[in-house]
Amino acid sequence: MSPEDNELMCLVEGDAPMGRIMRAHWLPVCMSEEVAERDGPPVRARLLGEDMVAFRDSEGRVGVLAEACPHRGASLFFGRNEEGGLRCLYHGWKFDTEGNVLDMACEPNAERMCVGMRHRHYPVHEAGGFVWAWLGDPAEVAPFLTPAWAPTEDTRISIVKMHVACNWAQVLEGSIDSAHSSSLHSTNIPAADGIGGSTATGDTWARPTVDKAPRMEYELTDYGFRYVALRRPIVREESEVYVRMTIFVAPFTVLIPPNNQYHLSQMLVPMDDGNCMFYWVAWHETKGIEQDEWRRFCAALPGIDLDPDFRKLRNAGNNYMQDREAMKHGDFTGIKGIPTQDMAMWESMGRIADRTADKLGASDLAIIQFRKQMLAAARKVRDGGPPIGATEPRTPPVTLRSYEGVIPKSMDWKTLDFAAFEAHRIRPEAA
Ligand code: FES
Ligand SMILES: [Fe+2]
Repeated sequence: MSPEDNELMCLVEGDAPMGRIMRAHWLPVCMSEEVAERDGPPVRARLLGEDMVAFRDSEGRVGVLAEACPHRGASLFFGRNEEGGLRCLYHGWKFDTEGNVLDMACEPNAERMCVGMRHRHYPVHEAGGFVWAWLGDPAEVAPFLTPAWAPTEDTRISIVKMHVACNWAQVLEGSIDSAHSSSLHSTNIPAADGIGGSTATGDTWARPTVDKAPRMEYELTDYGFRYVALRRPIVREESEVYVRMTIFVAPFTVLIPPNNQYHLSQMLVPMDDGNCMFYWVAWHETKGIEQDEWRRFCAALPGIDLDPDFRKLRNAGNNYMQDREAMKHGDFTGIKGIPTQDMAMWESMGRIADRTADKLGASDLAIIQFRKQMLAAARKVRDGGPPIGATEPRTPPVTLRSYEGVIPKSMDWKTLDFAAFEAHRIRPEAA
């Protein structure tokens, strides 16, 4: 990849084509639980290089405003959230969730000055455990599409949130990279016999394979692409195959293969060119995993593993607290928690990975596909075309679902949706 193409694919700030693609989609600002309390503390967020604050007012409405006060630029993060609005501490200007100026405590002619003045605010939608904002043209707000993890009102949704100190695209490439799980996460994802697919057992997700070199096949779709990693199962490798499907929903969402307890999705949301927010959602209509249990499994408990800004306590500054002694005793990475293992790899590639010298192999099929598709999408927008995934009719993510398990070799994954796959899946009791 040329340096120019690398920038075209990665940069999101200002008027960058990839940023314009992001602005054609609703973006997660924070988790709903962070602004659960009416008149509670505001939350800081950064998206596509723009700083903002989210807050819930006295009536329960959520607002997302530009962080800098329009008076003289002090941060509204420190503001008082009370009586229907957020008040800047500096001179007491006050704003409602729509950016209307309710009061200018320091101005003798406040009433006159307030009229018609509007602070930068973003259209907001709450769904699936998140507060979403529209960063695109306010005159062209797209209808919100229900995320994959909110198929019903009472779906159990658990969310891990972590800051990543590098560009979003190399994080996304990790998310769609099925091959790395057999190495990097091998301690947390051990091989096991007698199971028909990924099986969550307390601290691990056991898999029915020891195959570290999957074959890959993909299929382009209107929303992005889907692909499978095919591995030899531990038993009956002549007649059966272990299939793991990953779905890329452009521009920043991935449905990774589930386990027997919950489905899994990741969002890699660009904060700016050199940082992104990593969200990992586990959900299920009937089973699922408790919120705290999910965060403990990922070593991503706020206050224990993460600071109040969701920055990792295990980070580049302390070499992710890698434990060489544990490695001698069989721990593959010596790094605690699946996401932190990933982040050690992603962040070590630099703020923006230099892709000009990559040596890609057959196992990088999905990465190559992602680069091709998103580069083409960025060029299209640069040349005045529509952003990927934003042309009607759009595929609602809630209709998409990835799958995994052992099936007969004779089945063609391209013809199977989730339900059909489940029907053909070889369960241990049937084996
Ligand atoms: S800077 Fe906010 S009121 Fe003056
Ligand atoms: Fe990973």
